[in-house]
Amino acid sequence: MDYLFDFPIHPIAVHFVIALSIFAAALDIWASFKSDAAIAQFAKLTTCFVAIAAVITIATGWFDHETWHATSQHHHDDASVIGLHMKLGIALAILFCGLAILRYRIKGLASKLYLLLILTGVTGITFQAYLGGELVYSEGIGVRATEEHRAEDKRPEDKRTEENRAEETLHNGSDHEHSHDTENHH
Ligand code: HEM
Repeated sequence: MDYLFDFPIHPIAVHFVIALSIFAAALDIWASFKSDAAIAQFAKLTTCFVAIAAVITIATGWFDHETWHATSQHHHDDASVIGLHMKLGIALAILFCGLAILRYRIKGLASKLYLLLILTGVTGITFQAYLGGELVYSEGIGVRATEEHRAEDKRPEDKRTEENRAEETLHNGSDHEHSHDTENHH
């Protein structure tokens, strides 16, 4: 596999957007309960970091996807898990960039609509993380050993060796029969 750093970089980035989005929502909910302006300010800043993390996550995901696509024997269509993961990821990054702008426009505590939107975003991120896990742990995308096994399955010389082995077995079998025949003849 030919990654930029010889390993997938997306799995490093994903944790930030997942953890920070939950943290930003929790801070705003906490601030609303306590009517605490200082925590609300902290929530605003955290939401900005979520937007930045989401853009970095998209970029790294895109990069790993392109590398996997170029080097893998497998191809996928839009309805596949990776297709859904890509589209949902882009939609979520747009949503969180919009939420960061919206949050800065709201003075003080977050509105109920904003809280509903960020909770929807967090639910989306959770589902997105589940899809990402499916890609790695069920489909083996980005897992070096899996790619090597796939390549081995497909390598023409391996197939040829297998064919040769099968031929040899056949040949030895007929030789064996032949020697039996000769022995019987004697
Ligand atoms: C908010 C955006 C995104 C989140 C939260 C996210 C999350 C994840 C997670 C949790 C994994 C599993 C990592 C592991 O367990 O090692 C993953 C894998 C993966 N994701 Fe995403 N993802 C996002 C966007 C994208 C986008 C836009 C793409 C572009 C196609 C993408 C492509 C991939 C690929 C190819 C993998 C397999 C591992 C690798 O080669 O990096 N992701 N993602």
